Amino acid sequence: MNIKKKILCIGAGYVGGPSMAMIAYKCPDYRVTVVDISHERIDAWNSSELPVYEPGLDEIVRKTRGKNLFFARDIENQIKENDIIFVSVNTPTKMFGTGAGMAADLQYWEKTARQILEHSRSSKIVIEKSTLPVKTALAMERILSSAKGKISFEVLSNPEFMAEGTAMNDLENPDRILIGSRETKSGLKARAELSDIYARWIPKDKIITSNIWSSELSKLVANAFLAQRVSSINAVSALCEKADADVTEVARAVGMDSRIGSKFLNASIGFGGSCFKKDILNLVYLCNYYGLPEVASYWESVVKINEYQQERFIANILSSMFNTLAGKKICILGFAFKADTGDTRESPAIHITHRLLAEHAQVIISDPKALKNAAFDLKDENGEITYTEDPYRAASGCHALALLTDWNLYRKLDYKKIYKSMIKPAFLFDGRNILDHKKCFKIGFNVYPIGKPALSHFKVSPDA
Ligand SMILES: NC(=O)c1ccc[n+]([C@@H]2O[C@H](COP(=O)([O-])OP(=O)(O)OC[C@H]3O[C@@H](n4cnc5c(N)ncnc54)[C@H](O)[C@@H]3O)[C@@H](O)[C@H]2O)c1
Repeated sequence: MNIKKKILCIGAGYVGGPSMAMIAYKCPDYRVTVVDISHERIDAWNSSELPVYEPGLDEIVRKTRGKNLFFARDIENQIKENDIIFVSVNTPTKMFGTGAGMAADLQYWEKTARQILEHSRSSKIVIEKSTLPVKTALAMERILSSAKGKISFEVLSNPEFMAEGTAMNDLENPDRILIGSRETKSGLKARAELSDIYARWIPKDKIITSNIWSSELSKLVANAFLAQRVSSINAVSALCEKADADVTEVARAVGMDSRIGSKFLNASIGFGGSCFKKDILNLVYLCNYYGLPEVASYWESVVKINEYQQERFIANILSSMFNTLAGKKICILGFAFKADTGDTRESPAIHITHRLLAEHAQVIISDPKALKNAAFDLKDENGEITYTEDPYRAASGCHALALLTDWNLYRKLDYKKIYKSMIKPAFLFDGRNILDHKKCFKIGFNVYPIGKPALSHFKVSPDA
């Protein structure tokens, strides 16, 4: 087939791999190559066990890999070869120097810019796919503008809005595609070229364009809004527990207001994932940088409530289990930060496990996809941790279950069988409010949901 476009993506992670697989799938006449400094990652993309678990991803990679989708190690050559370069490297929170713990660490980003500059032999469109602080494109442009001769670069912002766990569906049917550019002749031309790629499968009215700074900022703000909804309902859940209200009932009533909407209103142990916290902290840093401390502290409170919610969950476990966890076995159902992913970055389960171990509990961790990452996250923990994929084996002989990830399979377990195998009194802490609490209570569990009254078999009230 005649190759119409040659596309490169630098960074073969959770975003680079799936998003490029979708472009290759939808555009069989484009050649798409993905590179990464991690050879291990590239080898995994070329193997039968992909480095990222996403429902539907395997199938699309199988259909395109070796035809028009390639995973390669030779970054320098690929920069020379390709005309359109997506950059999807990681942009974690900076952990040193100015802005430590808040600002984005742009070292990977800058290295990539310099690498593109060094190895380009022709003009290119460079597209920011990573989530970046507003005005990062300016730094990229400045680095790239030192190119010699007739080579020129056009920098675009095209933030990725897909969510892990539903990435393939989000990539195939996105709510919108956002492309930001300079409003110059060459900027608008590059913008049109990128729009053409997406227009192969996405309706034109969903491909929106803006100035480059609005585009960069939109991604940070979108994540901040999503996280803010989680923290809002979680803050309400604390009040519900005190006021004998039920957070699910409150959320349903509130969410039916069409101005508010019902999505993202499930009370839980809080958000995780590699993006929300880092992007909000990045926004907080930017607000402070631009002299807006009130705005900064407003957004910072979203992260604080998230931490508070995890602490509340631990405090609840501790007080319900007679203020001591020493030597008790707690089974954690789910370690991934959400269902349908193996990703554990910033998963609340990490902090909760850490706190349980600090109380000298024995922790048995179960998860269908995330055990390898869990073992890596917890490698420096002292204390007794066991990893068991089978939830029935994991729960057997335990004093309590702590459900931390909303995997569908946990809704369908035989809780009667599990209850029988546990030490009594058996406790169930539903950190995602996904179980049938009344049914579990009837089975015999003492049930502790989030934001609703506990269902306990203990007859003696604390005030007696
Ligand atoms: N994960 C998500 O759900 C998601 C969604 C939207 C946006 N984002 C953003 O997309 C970006 C990437 O996220 P991710 O989750 O894919 O990260 P990731 O850590 O999974 O992948 C990034 C990859 O980039 C590689 N890399 C780093 N520096 C490199 C270099 N100089 N040359 C080549 N490769 C390099 C790393 O080895 C890694 O494999 C981040 O900015 C993130 O905020 C992530």
